[in-house]
Amino acid sequence: MATTLRWLGHGTWSIDTGKQKILLDPFLNDSPTAPVKADSVEADFVLVSHGHFDHVADAASVAIRTGATVVTNFEICEWLAKQGVKNTQPMNLGGGIDLPFGRVAMTLAHHSSVMPDGVYGGNPGGFLLTLGDKKIYFACDTALFLDMKVIGEAGLDVAVLPIGDRFTMGPADAVEATKLLAPKRVLPAHYNTWPPIEQDANAWAARVKAETKAEPIVLEPGGTIEL
Ligand code: NI
Ligand code: MN
Repeated sequence: MATTLRWLGHGTWSIDTGKQKILLDPFLNDSPTAPVKADSVEADFVLVSHGHFDHVADAASVAIRTGATVVTNFEICEWLAKQGVKNTQPMNLGGGIDLPFGRVAMTLAHHSSVMPDGVYGGNPGGFLLTLGDKKIYFACDTALFLDMKVIGEAGLDVAVLPIGDRFTMGPADAVEATKLLAPKRVLPAHYNTWPPIEQDANAWAARVKAETKAEPIVLEPGGTIEL
């Protein structure tokens, strides 16, 4: 079966390779736009980009219920272990690890990372996943940065970029990021969850189409694409 990518609202995504289920930045129970609750998602691996509540909120409960392995920076692994998470794979920026579904590399993100209880959350990151012959890059919460050009040199099938503005890059910088990354397809995330990050994703997609070679795909929460 083809690998699928499903948007669960905000910065939360699930990948189903047919063999493994990977959940990124689980923010479900308190998300106004999530189509599912944390007690109904399946996961073999949970990836966490940084310590903010809208990315880590349901990580511990999902990992404890499912036995999933959490892949995130060293500091967040320690924080989750204190909450009872048994299986973690700590890493840090620039590093990569091979897992049963493929390779996970943790990429730079220009953002901040503190846990919901104020504990230091290490460096924020993004993820470059290699799944079979496909490469997918999740920028996660970040500003635009020129090194995206280097990430794009891996040859990206899909890039997922924040467009919400205010806390991350907004639509204009996400168009510039698309130019640097040069992915085949690009999907927006981290917008329309709350009024301060409301954006017109279709207007952004029209700019991507006009100004880049990438195909923009705007999903509704719950929407899926095949990789
Ligand atoms: Ni954040
Ligand atoms: Mn966020």
